[in-house]
Amino acid sequence: MGEISRFGVSAEDDLLESYDQLIATQGYTNRSEALRDLMRDALIKSRVDNVPDDIEVLGSLTLVYDHHASELNDKMAEIQHDHHGLVVSVMHVHISHDDCMEMIVLRGNAKEIRSLSGSLLSLKGVKHGQLFITLQVQEITGRESKATADSKQKHKHPHKHPHSNKKQTPSSAFGQRS
Ligand code: NI
Repeated sequence: MGEISRFGVSAEDDLLESYDQLIATQGYTNRSEALRDLMRDALIKSRVDNVPDDIEVLGSLTLVYDHHASELNDKMAEIQHDHHGLVVSVMHVHISHDDCMEMIVLRGNAKEIRSLSGSLLSLKGVKHGQLFITLQVQEITGRESKATADSKQKHKHPHKHPHSNKKQTPSSAFGQRS
């Protein structure tokens, strides 16, 4: 996190009252945290639409589909195997007698992730779905956070993981389906 600046915001009483009620229902306990999240959300939305191909994005694609649909499971698996470099992990949930939900975590360039998601969402038998795209912090603000810069010099936390932007090996993309 960078240096903290304080600033005043003017707003009509009724607007502020409605805003306070809304963020309370969302679980926020103070206005600042809610406003920071709104700012980050606006920045991400404006950037993901114009993100260059060489910038890595993170995505989660949720699909709800009827597993009885003809050859749908095979088609979904085939498309994901064709883009195995983008697929980090897959979670499959049997949500009812007929329907399955699949949540696919994706990492790679935005164009390829949108293309893969479109191929899956447009399959016959997929009833509902949505792609969520986000960016790493330095891509949101255009600056590397102090914590990230510090951690590159002196990395203290105990768990072991590679400190590079190399793609991770898909670990659970081959789970049992349907
Ligand atoms: Ni299932």
